[in-house]
Amino acid sequence: MNTPKIRVGVIGAGFVGSALVQLLSDESRQIALVDAATASIEVVGVAVRDAQKPRPGIDAGLLTTDPLELANREDLDILVELAGGIEPARTYIEAALNRGVSVVTANKALMAECGTALAQLAHENGADLFYEAAVGGGIPILRALRTSLAGERIERVMGIVNGTTNFILSKMTSEGSDYCDVLAEAQALGYAEADPTADVEAFDAAAKVQILSSLAFGTELRGEEIVREGITGVRSVDVDFAHRAGYVIKLLGVAERVGEDGISRRAHPAMIPEDHPLASVHGAMNAVFVEGTKSGPLMWLGQGAGGEPTATAVLGDVLHAARNRVGGRHDVPFSVDDRLRSVPAGEISSVFYISIDVMDEPGVLASVASVFGTHGVSIQSMEQSGFGDEARLSFVTHSAITKNVQATIEDLAKLESVDSIGACLRVIDGGVA
Ligand SMILES: NC(=O)c1ccc[n+]([C@@H]2O[C@H](COP(=O)([O-])OP(=O)(O)OC[C@H]3O[C@@H](n4cnc5c(N)ncnc54)[C@H](OP(=O)(O)O)[C@@H]3O)[C@@H](O)[C@H]2O)c1
Repeated sequence: MNTPKIRVGVIGAGFVGSALVQLLSDESRQIALVDAATASIEVVGVAVRDAQKPRPGIDAGLLTTDPLELANREDLDILVELAGGIEPARTYIEAALNRGVSVVTANKALMAECGTALAQLAHENGADLFYEAAVGGGIPILRALRTSLAGERIERVMGIVNGTTNFILSKMTSEGSDYCDVLAEAQALGYAEADPTADVEAFDAAAKVQILSSLAFGTELRGEEIVREGITGVRSVDVDFAHRAGYVIKLLGVAERVGEDGISRRAHPAMIPEDHPLASVHGAMNAVFVEGTKSGPLMWLGQGAGGEPTATAVLGDVLHAARNRVGGRHDVPFSVDDRLRSVPAGEISSVFYISIDVMDEPGVLASVASVFGTHGVSIQSMEQSGFGDEARLSFVTHSAITKNVQATIEDLAKLESVDSIGACLRVIDGGVA
């Protein structure tokens, strides 16, 4: 029997694209690839911006600087988009899907922005749209949620899904260094971009939370703003306090059920107990922790970035799309659960850690405590440390409603004896974030 041929076009030959093309042409893996795809895979074109750049491992004859022409090729079966950004990537993907060409992408920003519409477009045209590498790089979490856990009621998904911020916070924890010093080191090592905003202000993590949530709960992917707080306000004194209290600080992406029809999605730094499985995820590693009603806790751990690990996830999608194509079928998109409503951030309850710098004078503690009391935020523990004329007060609250904590902080900032408000971090304790 003749082995069917599946023709693949790749847009982007950067870290991930070039690793993918090399994986697809690895002679030693051809039998396994044909077996998984039920077809032989031929790369028919690779679109880049600069065709003159040397690209080891990629046949120069495949290069083109016209991605739209590649997406519109008559004989194309699968388009792999590995350029990134919203436009023009969206235009190329839509062009392919409109013609029934399946699409594989690693583009989290685009999927968070308009994933529901693209998935619908794919479905209407009998094509697949896969994006495993968009969350957790090489970690196969999306397909696990979509298939292995398809019948499970998931209560919460919580992940360390940004390697840059995990590298920074891990270094601050292990070396006691300041945020700015570690950021500079991360930039020098290539772990952080020259403009680190997308990572340190949690835009990247927020996009990934939206994708995880869509598969775990059935929320839409349509560019909705979710709660997002970055790590720039985390100081070494907060890391130190967390350590003494038996916690570590991590940037978490969280999506969880609130009651029967509520959902909370957010990306923010949080203190997690040192014995929580996520606490031992260090450096640039990623992990996703899933709590299912019947399955109990599950965790996936792996390389959240890097050309080869990420390309491995892309390759899995290409092989799946190829197999579907040979079989004349496509996967149906995830269902949207219309009953779910987004619970406003202020309504969510959590334990909080709040640090404030005050004048070291009589009566300060009483006035600070009365502000907490006014807003019904009860204090679980307090630590005072003095330095010169000033003192730092570090509070851990009992579980409190976020808007009450926000009001407390606003009023604390108005007190004459308060110099500055430091970090305000959620504490994950006993299952409540
Ligand atoms: N790198 C990772 O570890 C990682 C992990 C998970 C997901 N991702 C995602 O994977 C995608 C690719 O990431 P990457 O790190 O491989 O990016 P990259 O190294 O910056 O490579 C981007 C590639 O796309 C090409 N390109 C960009 N705009 C183009 C355009 N308008 N027309 C034609 N070619 C264009 C570039 O061409 P030139 O080479 O000519 O500049 C380059 O080859 C992104 O969506 C990213 O978010 C990456």
